[in-house]
Amino acid sequence: MCFDVPMNVALDTSPAPDLQAALVTVLAFSGEGDKATLELGPEAAALDAKLAGRIAAIAAEEGMNGEPGKTLLVHTPELGTKRVLLVGVGKASELTALELRKVAAVTAEEAEKRHLASAVLALPATLDAAAAVRYAVEGAILGNYRYTKWLTDDNDTKRYLEALHLSLPGADHASLAPVAARAESAARAVAMARDLVNAPPVEVTPRRLAEVAQEIAAENQLECIIYDEHKIAAEKMNLLLAVGGGSAEQPRFIHLTYRPKDADASTPQVALVGKGLTYDAGGYNIKPTGALEDMKIDMAGAAAVLGAMKAIRAFGPKVIVHGIVPSAENLVSHNAYKPGDIIRSHNGKTVEIMNTDAEGRLILADALSYAEKLGCTKIVDLATLTGACMIALGPYTAGLFANDEAWKKAVLDAAQRSGEDFWAMPLTKKLKSMLKSPIADMKNIGERWGGAITAALFLQEFIGKAHWVHLDIAGPASNDKPEPGVPRGGTGFGVLTLLELLAAEGPAASTEA
Ligand code: BES
Ligand code: MN
Ligand code: ZN
Repeated sequence: MCFDVPMNVALDTSPAPDLQAALVTVLAFSGEGDKATLELGPEAAALDAKLAGRIAAIAAEEGMNGEPGKTLLVHTPELGTKRVLLVGVGKASELTALELRKVAAVTAEEAEKRHLASAVLALPATLDAAAAVRYAVEGAILGNYRYTKWLTDDNDTKRYLEALHLSLPGADHASLAPVAARAESAARAVAMARDLVNAPPVEVTPRRLAEVAQEIAAENQLECIIYDEHKIAAEKMNLLLAVGGGSAEQPRFIHLTYRPKDADASTPQVALVGKGLTYDAGGYNIKPTGALEDMKIDMAGAAAVLGAMKAIRAFGPKVIVHGIVPSAENLVSHNAYKPGDIIRSHNGKTVEIMNTDAEGRLILADALSYAEKLGCTKIVDLATLTGACMIALGPYTAGLFANDEAWKKAVLDAAQRSGEDFWAMPLTKKLKSMLKSPIADMKNIGERWGGAITAALFLQEFIGKAHWVHLDIAGPASNDKPEPGVPRGGTGFGVLTLLELLAAEGPAASTEA
């Protein structure tokens, strides 16, 4: 695979100052009062003492007050580590382990920017050690992520940071090493998902997505079935066939399966379904300039599912997990489907096509009924489905729609731990009438208002008894404004929440009777 995070993360039980590195990061707090006043954490204070108070003096000079997002670099030639980076994290009493993801990302980015080969992050002893290590490892790897594949100048592609050490004196290395390994698998899976989203559509076609799935399956002992256009037709996934019909790159339907070691006929089955539009031009309802340029990201749901399947062995869920990706290109040609077409879906319901740009729900409809036919009782789908969801929630928050309270709570709890932002939206029954067609079982679009909801209601028509959560990730799938650990472009959003969700699933944890 092409993804590119060359750095190693190592766990160290020595105190930060004893580690030889070009840079050491320590936390800076903002004090407990109303006005932010710098309060050095114990690790920072220890270094400051060695330097006779120089760090505190420079911090005061520079107005470093420990607020989140503020950083200050102090040169310390007399120490083993030549630079100390203070990273503001706000009040000590409000510090959570999740915040360390950002701190680690800032450390990796700062070291890379300064062409340093090594860095140390001093983890605070006050937090749960496993949580601190987990988030710091994730942040370090994601902070080091860059998409450089198509840059030809060596100066643009050269990478400097080789190792980031997490210092946690006295920590139980034996119990933390597996935590770090699992976090590393998860973060590298996020990096892969970002690579897939960032890659140009000429490279990531439905065919290529299927190859990536096969590589993931081979590396992780997963079953993998790929349906080409002929097998898609034989399975009567006519909606997927119709959407993909306009491109010379024919559609693919990807089905990965993970089975826990002792799986039997009673093992619960979960499906992860990801929208895999490798390019969405809109079809005959073609998108305008300004909307087309970004539409390579329309396979971000698929990337999240493939990312989760890539790291699934490290999490070892107790349930059978199906990773399902319907994939197509939505283009214009003499073979493309048209507004006015009526198409019979995989589950037999007919759909009148009123807008060829509402294609995601079509390919997902076939995939959702396929998943339920497999015997999956819990389904999560992820899709860059509607611009309307971005209008509703902004660019950083995914919309969550659910037909079951317990499954919804499981996803929201997992999201809390992964630090990804979701907001529950309603499946407003009254809007169902918007999808009525006089000549088919339904239309593929509603009216203008409530566009994210009518898209979800459309999907629900293809769900029977299964507990189902639909995640509209149109906003958070990509990022315009770079943040620590999240550069511009594909974010890999969803991978971490899916892995958290699966880790918590199992026959014992199941809500099924
Ligand atoms: N892939 C788009 C949704 C999208 C928009 C994702 C912006 C990411 C950023 C989807 O297929 C689409 O075109 N949706 C239409 C639906 C409409 C025709 C009912 C939309 O949102 O405009
Ligand atoms: Mn579209
Ligand atoms: Zn789309």
